Amino acid sequence: MRVIIEPNYDKMSKWAADYVAARIIEANPTPEKPFKLGCPTGSSPLGLYKELIKKYEAGELSFQNVVTFNMDEYVNLPEEHPESYHSFMWNNFFSHIDIKRENVHILNGNAPDLTAECEAYEAAIEAAGGIDLFMGGVGPDGHLAFNEPGSSLTSKTRVKTLTTDTIIANSRFFDGDLSLVPKQALTVGIGTVMAAKEVLLVCNGHHKARALQHIVDGNVSHMWTASMLQMHRKAIVVCDEPACDELTVATYKYYLDKERGNL
Ligand code: GLP
Repeated sequence: MRVIIEPNYDKMSKWAADYVAARIIEANPTPEKPFKLGCPTGSSPLGLYKELIKKYEAGELSFQNVVTFNMDEYVNLPEEHPESYHSFMWNNFFSHIDIKRENVHILNGNAPDLTAECEAYEAAIEAAGGIDLFMGGVGPDGHLAFNEPGSSLTSKTRVKTLTTDTIIANSRFFDGDLSLVPKQALTVGIGTVMAAKEVLLVCNGHHKARALQHIVDGNVSHMWTASMLQMHRKAIVVCDEPACDELTVATYKYYLDKERGNL
């Protein structure tokens, strides 16, 4: 695992966006051979999306031949609800770039048969040839997408019941009212993310420090599902300084020195 420590949120977002843009440009995608990008929601990737939009506006990057697969979506929340992940993605990213609507994939949390929806999603990822780069955030409890503590580390796309921790954390988007937060979500599995060629996580803020400690310094554990990235051949975690508050001094110094070229 590669760990990039940036001084603050803006620099973290910029580093992540530069990396994603470089990967897309390098792949030189075409309609026949598009670049497949996995997309997260949440406040963490907002800066990353803003930076990618800037690159598109500056003419440095096009999403014409990019196919996206989102990580997750709430169950039974109307698509047009302002807090649905459909709304989030169109408002914060897709409406501002040249992506083709037919190239966007987001799980349908209102599908009549949720299991069939999840199976079809996995099949669509496979039919597309797999995901080239899965971007992600992390929950304060170390969850990746909606793979809550205790999730199988080989899981595929399925319905998950949210933990109380996540319901409380996400209630900030629902006027702080826990009763308004959906209790279930459809989510790609840890196995789905692990199957991507590359994974790039953004992790910022002191409230994520314990999660980062478990992901970087801890053991692989289904109680901190993002820790499974330790087993990925090409995983990068980009974080800001406050997120490093719980890392051991040795780990912190190692990753800083390594990226500065002092090692
Ligand atoms: C939700 C999403 C995750 C996201 C997490 C953290 O639970 N399903 O994909 O990583 O929130 O969100 P934030 O970035 O707002 O802290």
